[in-house]
Amino acid sequence: MAELQLDARRRIELRGRRFPRPAATRVITVANQKGGVGKTTTTVNLAAALAQAGLNVLVLDNDPQGNASTALGIDHRAGTPSIYEVLVDGAPIEEAVQESPDVPNLWCLPATIDLSGAEIELVSMVARETRLRNALDRYLEWRAAQGLEPIDYVFVDCPPSLGLLTVNAFVVAREVLIPIQCEYYALEGLSQLLKSIQLIQAHLNPDLHVSTILLTMYDARTNLAQQVAEEVRTHFPDRTLRTTVPRSVRISEAPSYGQTVMTYDAGSSGALAYLEAAREIAERGAATSDGTADGTDGVASAAVAADAVSHATEARPHADQHESTAEADSAVHQQTYGEPVMAAHQEDQ
Ligand SMILES: Nc1ncnc2c1ncn2[C@@H]1O[C@H](COP(=O)(O)OP(=O)(O)O)[C@@H](O)[C@H]1O
Ligand SMILES: [Mg+2]
Repeated sequence: MAELQLDARRRIELRGRRFPRPAATRVITVANQKGGVGKTTTTVNLAAALAQAGLNVLVLDNDPQGNASTALGIDHRAGTPSIYEVLVDGAPIEEAVQESPDVPNLWCLPATIDLSGAEIELVSMVARETRLRNALDRYLEWRAAQGLEPIDYVFVDCPPSLGLLTVNAFVVAREVLIPIQCEYYALEGLSQLLKSIQLIQAHLNPDLHVSTILLTMYDARTNLAQQVAEEVRTHFPDRTLRTTVPRSVRISEAPSYGQTVMTYDAGSSGALAYLEAAREIAERGAATSDGTADGTDGVASAAVAADAVSHATEARPHADQHESTAEADSAVHQQTYGEPVMAAHQEDQ
């Protein structure tokens, strides 16, 4: 009952609301090398919520599963021009991007099954880590040259690994959003993820920082969910959104209708949570120029946070600091793609 009243209040507060437009395009990579934590769900619903609030939003589906494309109702059958052609063939994004059939101002660069080969194909390519960034830069310039409105938000949905696709996603973005599922082992792997982000910061993209953490699949009835939430908030007080996304059947049903929950059931508690999370992201971004809550985030603070989490979760110690870009980059790949990348690394030499 209390929950219903709360929902009603939130609905009134958020109805028809316009969110502030960022001064420049915000590129946000949604990453967590764990599968099933809500990356795709978060990507598509935040994107739809921001587009519904009047902003121009582009989703880059960077996962061979193509789940973000499915959820946005975007055609991604084999042979459809996709992010694969952009990454591997250097095709322009404007030749593959599609507009959402349900939400105006929302576009998606789809992923097809072809992308599953890209991880290996990229290994031997020139500028393999910066291909997505170069393609996005060119697309944003092309839009400007065409007199099209600028894109306000770009969300990149990542596969559940730390391979070259994810490296490309870390290089194209300034911000990382980490969804954390409020369940046992939630923090396991987080320090590995933060160390990978640190390596990218140090060698490939100094602007990269974790701007946002979103607690997903939160079940307020369980002590465990509350404990996980508390622990995350203790370690990342400024970056964890106040809004938590509840476990919701409507959220999980929406993709099978080719929809986000924002259009499938806009009044549901899941849709309201994503709308509220989107508002927080938009308002925080408007408050500081770089989208972080405190504006001071950098390598050092991410390192401190990574260590705090690694103590908290008693993760195994990590490899020593890497010196060169090549080493850093292959260290990231080895975490999930040990053999092929190590083999390619030898070829490089
Ligand atoms: N808040 C939620 N409530 C219920 N089910 C959810 C919620 N968030 C995600 N799911 C479901 O959990 C599964 C994994 O989510 P998904 O976003 O695909 O994770 P990832 O992209 O990290 O692998 C999907 O079936 C999705 O529909
Ligand atoms: Mg996914």
